[in-house]
Amino acid sequence: MDLGLRERTCVVTGASRGIGLATARFLCAEGASVLLIARDERSVVRAADECLAAGAEAGGRAESLACDVTDRDAAERIAAAAEDRFGPVDALVNNAGSAKWRDLDDVPDEDWQAAWEVNVMAPMRLMRELAPGMAERGWGRVVNVASTAAKRPSAAMAEYSVAKAAELSLSRLYADRFAAKGVLVNAVCPGPTKSEMWMGEDGLLDQSQAHGGHETRDDALEAAGAKRPIGRLAEVEEVASVIAFLCSEQASYVAGSAWGVDGGTVQVII
Ligand SMILES: NC(=O)c1ccc[n+]([C@@H]2O[C@H](COP(=O)([O-])OP(=O)(O)OC[C@H]3O[C@@H](n4cnc5c(N)ncnc54)[C@H](OP(=O)(O)O)[C@@H]3O)[C@@H](O)[C@H]2O)c1
Repeated sequence: MDLGLRERTCVVTGASRGIGLATARFLCAEGASVLLIARDERSVVRAADECLAAGAEAGGRAESLACDVTDRDAAERIAAAAEDRFGPVDALVNNAGSAKWRDLDDVPDEDWQAAWEVNVMAPMRLMRELAPGMAERGWGRVVNVASTAAKRPSAAMAEYSVAKAAELSLSRLYADRFAAKGVLVNAVCPGPTKSEMWMGEDGLLDQSQAHGGHETRDDALEAAGAKRPIGRLAEVEEVASVIAFLCSEQASYVAGSAWGVDGGTVQVII
């Protein structure tokens, strides 16, 4: 199936590793021109090189911009960089984020605020900056990467859950505003996924091992997998392929949805 993304300008935030990098790689392999965003310059440059190689056959292009999406002027800088290097933005993936395990009572105010900034304000500013131009040109896609925790709050990830739920609400508002103009806004709700957020040192796996009293990392991983009907965590590509589809021409009748990519974790059908 041709996703119809050749030469489309795409922005992926949080693209230096994990779900964001896998998404950028897929988009490049479809011939898209992708601007990758993350804070650490060296890793985002390396990620763009990887995407360029993945896109070589299809004519995909990749560039990077080191930028904290929570900066007040990030949206303007990202829009200008994308336009300068490739042209106006056709597809935006709001994916940057991070998470920690701890008890509800242990979350300091600064971390509540930080979760709000990265999961709500940053995606909002980027949509506010980019969606009107997409509407003028009559075609656009936005995918906001939320979480299963947006639908059913996780007791061990309080501020993250609340901010991700707000991100779904924001996503729906923008979907309603722009769908008739050809700009389709959707969210995805991944379950636990084997990115650095889970698998890295001191990541969610290590934290869940300590929290759950598991003897080894493998025990903790098995226990986390066993909580899903599918019986395991997702690979990053399994989430990225859904995001890439929602960015595509082929997702032309999907708007305002929050697609579960969670191996059946959230036990409702809507
Ligand atoms: N992994 C999971 O189990 C899971 C489940 C549900 C939802 N999600 C969501 O999926 C998204 C991607 O997660 P992941 O698992 O791929 O995480 P990851 O492997 O830790 O990657 C996170 C990416 O975001 C970037 N980033 C973080 N804060 C940023 C900021 N303020 N500005 C710009 N870039 C920033 C990181 O690079 P720098 O540090 O260099 O900035 C990195 O590229 C997140 O929104 C996460 O909440 C993940």
